[in-house]
Amino acid sequence: MTRILAIETSCDETAAAVVENGRHLLSNVVATQIELHSRFGGVFPEVASRQHVLAIQPVIQQAIQEAGLPHVRALDAIAVTHGPGLAGSLLVGVNAAKGLAFASGLPLLAVNHLEGHIYSNWIEAPNRPAIPENAFPAIILIVSGGHTELILMTGHGQYRQLGATLDDAAGEAFDKVARLLELGFPGGPAVQRAAQHGDITRFILPRPLLQNDAHRFNFSFSGLKTAVLNMVRQLEKQGENIRDPQLVADIAAAFQNAVADVLVHKTADAATAFGVRQVCICGGVSANSLLRSTAEKQFAQMRLPLYIPPLFLCTDNAAMIGTAAYYGAQPTTALPHTLTMDVLPNLPLPEIGSVG
Ligand code: KG4
Ligand code: ZN
Repeated sequence: MTRILAIETSCDETAAAVVENGRHLLSNVVATQIELHSRFGGVFPEVASRQHVLAIQPVIQQAIQEAGLPHVRALDAIAVTHGPGLAGSLLVGVNAAKGLAFASGLPLLAVNHLEGHIYSNWIEAPNRPAIPENAFPAIILIVSGGHTELILMTGHGQYRQLGATLDDAAGEAFDKVARLLELGFPGGPAVQRAAQHGDITRFILPRPLLQNDAHRFNFSFSGLKTAVLNMVRQLEKQGENIRDPQLVADIAAAFQNAVADVLVHKTADAATAFGVRQVCICGGVSANSLLRSTAEKQFAQMRLPLYIPPLFLCTDNAAMIGTAAYYGAQPTTALPHTLTMDVLPNLPLPEIGSVG
């Protein structure tokens, strides 16, 4: 029996969870700062770190309480995200974890946030088949606010990056397009909501790098965002009311469709190229309903098992950090996992090789 307390503060969610034997959640507490940042239209780093300072202690306490543990020493280890993410935000979680580890004598494990997202698929959740413990190789698509990466996973902690975005991450594109269409923050859910009543056939946007052999597994979303901007300007010139809810819905639908199309087709292409046994999609954008349904159709057709976390595990949480720590995925850097652990805002996913 292994119980890990995990802490996650890489961006704008203060989160703590207790994970038993890697896959079973005893508790999962997430304090979101969305309201705080919405008036800035994006995450304001200093505001985020100061809010983490206020929230971290109650969130950790709640996670321990909800797990039914009498005290911290009933745990086996403490895991914490040490990168990538915002430096000031990461520091709050890392320092809280150090304090707890020092006081309790428990081992302290440093976890890569991207590995956390990958392992969100290994967490047990109701109404969803469990992912096989060892069904490798697998293709992993990470789509979040900061990352868009296609990865070949050949074993626990064994990754090979096949491609990534050349510019904006998919979530970043959602956020920027939402701002452009004045839909609010965070952009992904706002675009999804607007697109619900949109006509997907009214506008057709480009599918960047879809038929590009030199960038077969890479992505580019900044051009797509510019295409939306140009379309809005063109429509304005033609005298269209760009605040018209139906027009906004149609543009949002066209954008969402283009993103889902590119993400799913490239993931399917990689799955075929490497003859994998399963496909996993993870990260905040994997909460997108059109992406989920497009992927479900595509991989059902290919008869490949597809795993996407339940919605509450798509966006940032600490449960995934505990699971990643359990699978031993954490010795990613030469850093000793001690009280001298530093934060690494640009930490990449550890690689066993790159196919370029
Ligand atoms: O994984 P995450 O919570 O944080 C990072 O590690 O970046 O991802 C946040 C991103 C944001 O860009 C947000 O707009 C996007 O995920 N997102 C979505 C949806 N929910 C969150 N994008 C599209 N559709 C959604 N339903
Ligand atoms: Zn994340």
